Amino acid sequence: MEPLALYIHWPFCLSKCPYCDFNSHVRERVDQARWRGALLAELRREAARAGRRPLASIFFGGGTPSLMAPETAAALIEAAGALFDAPADLEVTLEANPTSVEAAKLRDFRAAGVNRISLGVQALDGEALRFLGRQHDAAQAIAALEAGRAIFPRISFDLIYARPGQPEAAWRAELRRALARAADHLSLYQLTIEPGTRFATLHARGEIVLPDGDEAARLYWATVEEAARFGLAPYEVSNYAQPGAESRHNLVYWRYGDYLGIGPGAHQRLMLDGALLAARRHRAPEEWLARVERDGHAVIEEEALAPQDRAREALLMGLRLAEGVDPARIEARSGLAFAATVDPAMLAACLDEGYLEWQGARLVATDEGRMRLDAMLPALLR
Ligand SMILES: C[S@@+](CC[C@H](N)C(=O)[O-])C[C@H]1O[C@@H](n2cnc3c(N)ncnc32)[C@H](O)[C@@H]1O
Ligand code: SF4
Repeated sequence: MEPLALYIHWPFCLSKCPYCDFNSHVRERVDQARWRGALLAELRREAARAGRRPLASIFFGGGTPSLMAPETAAALIEAAGALFDAPADLEVTLEANPTSVEAAKLRDFRAAGVNRISLGVQALDGEALRFLGRQHDAAQAIAALEAGRAIFPRISFDLIYARPGQPEAAWRAELRRALARAADHLSLYQLTIEPGTRFATLHARGEIVLPDGDEAARLYWATVEEAARFGLAPYEVSNYAQPGAESRHNLVYWRYGDYLGIGPGAHQRLMLDGALLAARRHRAPEEWLARVERDGHAVIEEEALAPQDRAREALLMGLRLAEGVDPARIEARSGLAFAATVDPAMLAACLDEGYLEWQGARLVATDEGRMRLDAMLPALLR
């Protein structure tokens, strides 16, 4: 059986960042013991359905899971280890914010079994950090990176670039400062305006202006170039790693493997008796908690995906990867012949334009193609 990835969502943050549309909420007080009990309950329920399987990874995401009590992470890691077959080097990642409160807890998370952290640095420039509404400054980010490196065998961090008015030279310098402190893995995201956020309001009023397409493309190439100097290659649209340091957890998503998602709003894809079941959980933290305490889970929707939807998802995810997709795998996961999943005329056009190419048996988006995935995929998929 294919190894399973386990995602655990912690939906709380110290404050809401103005660009963020993740399922994250600010609360005065969180009852850690109740949350621990409820997360464990959902985990046990899903494990009973999935059966005993090999486990590929655990990922604590958010929200800000570094605000979780380390005992909660420890209990969940231990339960997952008992419910599934976990390898000795199981990848266990925790997203952490670089405020001092959280940095002080890093050792406890390491003792709990976390062996990889993903730090939300976002910028190393004070003014940019204020613009992004972050709770930490550049010095705290550097301190957290250094503490993270001393404590964890693996560490990654996130930066947001293509910010309003960000000159290429300044971004290169900031990225170099970051890369010098890296990390065998980095997530480098271009700032996007998400509907319903404070930035969406400012953007609509013209108070935030993003770099245009050409400028964003220049910044992307600068990013690839700088990362390469430090031996980090873009193995996915926004993710850079040294060979072998790729996020095993995220690779399960992009290779369209099975994953469990517990906690508010978490998504799940699980193959059971030939049906690929897509489940979604209640997003609101209090409602999620009440439902789990009442019913043992907070799944609000579960459906068996049609073959065409499976193929579409597999292509959407897989073409983000530098390794591209293996049509035989898409056929196996979807039950559809590959030829039936894409529009043949569009495929020919994308190959012709140099946006896609065959590398042996694999279909791969070229560098040019990967920058245009959002425009290309809707037309390509049947
Ligand atoms: C779930 S969030 C991060 C977790 C953690 N709470 C933090 O803020 O560091 C995952 C990452 O998505 C990125 N992100 C979120 N919203 C974004 C946006 N609108 N544009 C670009 N990147 C974004 C940020 O880099 C963020 O670290
Ligand atoms: S970016 Fe991170 S800290 Fe900020 S609101 Fe989103 S999840 Fe919370």
